[in-house]
Order: sequence, then structure tokens, then C-alpha cells
Amino acid sequence: MTDSQSTSPSLENLLHETRAFPPSPEFAAQANAQASMYDEAATDRVEFWARQARELVTWKTPFTQTLDWSEAPVAKWFADGTLNAAYNAVDRHVEAGLGDRVAIHFEGEPGDTRTVTYADLQREVSRAANALAALGVTAGDRVVIYLPMLVESVVAMLACARLGAAHSVVFGGFSADALRSRISDAGAKLVITADGGYRRGAPSALKPAVDEAIAPKDGEPATTVEHVVVVRRTEQDVAWTEGRDVWWHDAVEAADTFHEPAWVDAEHPLFILYTSGTTGKPKGILHTTGGYLTQTAFTHKNVFDLKAESDVYWCTADIGWVTGHSYIVYGPLLNGATQVIYEGTPDTPHRGRWWEIVQKYGVSIFYTAPTAIRACMKWGEEIPAEFDLSSLRVLGSVGEPINPEAWMWYRRVIGSDRTPIVDTWWQTETGAIMISPLPGVTAAKPGSAQVPLPGIAATVVDDEARPVPDGGGGYLVLAEPWPSMLRGIWGDLQRFKDTYWSRFPGIYFAGDGAKKDDDGDIWLLGRVDDVMNVSGHRLSTTEIESALVSNELVAEAAVVGAADEVSGQAVVAFVILRGEHADQASTDEGSARIEKTLRDHVAKEIGPIAKPKRILVVAELPKTRSGKIMRRLLRDVAENREVGDATTLADSSVMNLIQTGLAKPTEDEN
Ligand code: WT7
Repeated sequence: MTDSQSTSPSLENLLHETRAFPPSPEFAAQANAQASMYDEAATDRVEFWARQARELVTWKTPFTQTLDWSEAPVAKWFADGTLNAAYNAVDRHVEAGLGDRVAIHFEGEPGDTRTVTYADLQREVSRAANALAALGVTAGDRVVIYLPMLVESVVAMLACARLGAAHSVVFGGFSADALRSRISDAGAKLVITADGGYRRGAPSALKPAVDEAIAPKDGEPATTVEHVVVVRRTEQDVAWTEGRDVWWHDAVEAADTFHEPAWVDAEHPLFILYTSGTTGKPKGILHTTGGYLTQTAFTHKNVFDLKAESDVYWCTADIGWVTGHSYIVYGPLLNGATQVIYEGTPDTPHRGRWWEIVQKYGVSIFYTAPTAIRACMKWGEEIPAEFDLSSLRVLGSVGEPINPEAWMWYRRVIGSDRTPIVDTWWQTETGAIMISPLPGVTAAKPGSAQVPLPGIAATVVDDEARPVPDGGGGYLVLAEPWPSMLRGIWGDLQRFKDTYWSRFPGIYFAGDGAKKDDDGDIWLLGRVDDVMNVSGHRLSTTEIESALVSNELVAEAAVVGAADEVSGQAVVAFVILRGEHADQASTDEGSARIEKTLRDHVAKEIGPIAKPKRILVVAELPKTRSGKIMRRLLRDVAENREVGDATTLADSSVMNLIQTGLAKPTEDEN
């Protein structure tokens, strides 16, 4: 039924091999989360969220309506309330006397550091808001942010929010082409970027991609961008367009430190974040203000057990992904947390860098992805053992199913066999965590995200939308609206309805396969659509196929996600060359050259994260009689498995052909 990956646990084995980890009595006695929250929410789900919204968010005008579902599937939460996201993340803490609390310990990859208090952040965000306003940004505009992990990245997002302009952050690893399509789709007025950032010990460039992305191209006019604001990080030389380009430090340092936030309606757009879907075109996921802030603050406080006065929190995500939005910027700052932001990679200049940072700042709550944990497992436990990790008290995981081996390693080696682990399931679309154990309440099961949070109606259904009994498998759905749910796909209401609400009419289909064990706990089994999950990043098979066929060498392409020890899945591409190029693949040297050309081409079209790990040149692709590529069979080949049932193939000899022609694995240079 589900196209589950081999990183997914085999439920039967697991239930025998693993035990549950009940919370320690000491932890439970101090925990923010309480078992009674489930009952409260079950009694009146909508009122439960209204209470969270009143407690965790400061409103300029209090709301009187909680949920309006009359225009389903577009929800309105707290619609008649007004507020400002930046005021909630920063100013109100300063007003409460917490201006001297550290908001951000910044650690640059080269080892430079910066400490930013909430009072500093208030001044910086206010200045940046004034600077952007002077460049013409007003409420309702869209601003694209294309930055590395810097303090300025957080400031830039909050400055937009302060003005009521929606930010659309584009991950710095995306190419100029990918950036261009996002800028155009959002109709952005301004782009905030940097000369570059430090990555793997060297400066990398960002500004050239922006210059390319907004220039006229192939008959397409220049984009709507009026100004490019550039943060100086690396002292690289940059090309400069007078009148259009502005240095961040020139604009921001000259600006006034007072700025009155724009008080917006709860349903005012806060951000757009593009994510891959099953077609070639990325979707601009739209989030609004009041409900999003409520659920990110609630989940950050209760899932991570945040004690703002004493904890040091660190989420290793990049702000280019939703995890960075919800659990670096909005959730933690709304809760007044002190956090670490690190610019670089875990292995620069050495493989203990993360653990050195944990030791240096006394990190107590740590949130990362299974792929990173598996990479650390591979590097060896003697590396973390060199550092003092005793400050850690809660560990989190996100982005893909965490296999029980990695879970156990994480708890034993990083968590000293002591810390709770929260395996958090959610999506760009859900805005905030939806399924997770609650530390201090839930007895954790390695490999399972387990329980919908209080107020969340996540369940597993069969093909006919009937809830499966305990022990059954099917599709993960969300049966009731939640505060931080997406409000649509930017500019495409129909696609929003078709993508999420048509498979099971009236309920949200997440795209994931899932099972319920005999206790009713939920186990995620991976995507059931043409979406891959590589190192916790979502990639579309169709998008990569389109990139491949846009190269003159390629006649046809099929892409699959094949199980991979470290990254969860790896991109494997099968390509048919155009007739005139076909004989180029007949020598080892020729096929190596083709593979390199095509990998570079995908990097240029989408970004290095989408580069196929392997490219196999084949003479034909397995297709059904109706012409649909049977990816299941290709996945069997890519995973070196015996090929499954091929009886529906139009031409059953194709699979023999592909297997005999199997090329050797290409070196991963990502
Ligand atoms: C997809 C969403 C949520 C932020 C990072 C990814 C997978 C996410 C888990 C988890 C199993 C997970 C799902 C989901 N996923 N967390 N704890 N266990 N799978 O956000 O790029 O929107 O991807 O990531 O397949 O649908 P995203």
C-alpha cells in the first residue's frame, strides 16, 4: 500500500526489540506539559486553542471569535484580533524587564561570535524595519530573504513582520533559477541577501545568484524587485548596481531605533515558504499571523519543556526551511528563550564542532534531524565523548522517520542515557509540530512519533477514509483544522484544494503513510507520493526529472528516492539519452562525463541539494500500458533488490535490460 522506505522501522520487530522509556519522576514533576492537557483539549478543542492564544500571545485588540471554518479549507483563527509578530517575539520581553536576557549566541563557522540581547534585538529589528520602510516596503508587500545563518537573517524576518510585509525565505543552497521562480511567483519587491557566508572553511557567494535571478532572461522581463539589500559577511568583492543595491549596514545603522509595529489582523500573511510538491512547480505555502504564533509558541514551550529563564536552546536547522521559521525564529523568541545560532557545518573545522558548541554555551535543549544523527554515528561515538554534554536535558528529532538504532544512539551517546527524546512530526504546511511525545508525560518509544498533540486531530485512515483500528496501516490525515495550518498556496486556491483536500474530501491528507501499533501509537512510514525526503529536505521527483530533460543530452528521465544509510533517501536518476548522444555512454569515461554534466545541470537548475547521487543511463524505462513510469520497479533496482511484480508493464523485458545495464555507483560529492 504505502511506498515505505527501508529506513522505516519494521513494526513487528521493533515492538519486540525496543522498550518504552517512561519519564523520570524528577522530570515529570517539573515538566511544562501535563497529561491533563489532552483531556482539556478533548473536552473543547477550539476553546483549548483560544486559551493558548490568550496566554502565549500578546494582542493589541483581543479576539472574540476563535475558529471560523465556514470557508473551508481556508481557516480563520482569532480573526477579529490584532497583533504584531515582531512585537510578540521581541518588544514585549523588553517591556517585561527582560531586555538584558541573551536572545542569540551567534557562533560563526570561522569561530567569530556575537551575543545579542532582547534589547539589542529590539533596536536592530526596529532599525531594519525603518530601513526597509525607507526603501518602500509596506504592509502587504513580499520580501525575499536569501541569506546564510546570521543574526541578520533573524532580524530581517522580524523586520518584515514588524512592517506587516510577508517574508519568503529561500534556502541559500538553491540556485539562481530556483530563486528567480520564487521571486516571480511571490511578486517580491525587495531581496535581502549577503555577499556570502562561511561554509566548510571557505567563503561561499550569494549575491551573484541574486543578480542573475532578477535580471531579464530568455525573453522574460526583469522581476518585480526594486532593491537588493546586501549584508556584508565575507568581504568578497561583489558586483554592484547603483540605485538598486544597498548595503545592509549603511541602511540599517543610519536608521532610527524606534519603530511603531504595524498592528495587523490575525489572518494577515506572515510568510510564504516554497516547498516541493508532486509536480515540477514548487508551492508557496502561506502562513498567517495569530494562529501560527499561537501554535509555534505552545509547541515550543511544551514539546521541548522550555524554561526560558534557565535553558539554552539550539535548533541546528537553517532558516531556509520551516523548522528554522517555527523553531529558531518565532517559537523560541515568542517564549523569550536564549538560543544558539550556528552558521556552519557540523564537521568544520572538525567533527566535534556541534558538541564543542553544546559544551561552550551549556546547551540544554537540542533539536536536529535523523540524518545528522546518523552521520555522527558513522563518525564514531569517541568524538562526542570528548566533550561535556551534561547540560543537555531534552533532545528533539525532525524531518524524517528516525530509525530506532539512531534513536537509541542519540539517547545513549548524546543524551547520557537520561534525556527524553521527542520525535516531532510536522510539515511546512502544518506550520508547527503536530505529533510528538510530550516530555514528562509520554513514555517514549524509539522510532515512533506516537501521539497527536493536545488539540490536534491526527489519525490514520484506509483507502476509504475510515480510521484504521490499532495495529492497522494506511494514510496519515488531519481531521480538524489547527491554528498554524497553511491558509493556502500563494496565488493558487485550486491547487491548495486539489493537493490536500481531494484525496479524502473534507480532511487534510498529509502525503505520508503511517501505522498504528497495538497501543494506538502512530509510526510514520514515509511519503506515499512522488516526494522524496533527502537528509530531511523535501525534494520532488518530478522537479528533478524536469531539470534533467531540460538538458540537451536527455530524452527522458525517471527519478526515485532510494534508501540511503545516512541521508534516509538518496536521489537516483534513470536517463535515456537523445539518439545523437546515445553512443557517448558506451565507454566508462563517456558515461562518467555524462553523469557529471547532468549532476552539475541539476545543481544549476535547482541547487546542489537536488543533485542525483547516482545517474544510470538506460535504453528504456519501465512503463505501464497507459504510459506511467513504474517508479516502484526502479526503486527496486536502485536499492539492489529483486525486482517486484512487473506484470503490468507494457514490455516486461525492459527490466532485464535495465538491470544488465546497471552502472556503478557515482561518488557522492555533495
Ligand atoms: C515531511 C514534511 C517538519 C519540518 C521538516 C520537514 C517528513 C517530518 C517527520 C518525523 C517521520 C517526518 C514527512 C512530512 N517528516 N518529520 N518526525 N517522522 N517523517 O518539513 O519539508 O515540509 O517535510 O517530512 O514525510 O510529510 P517538510
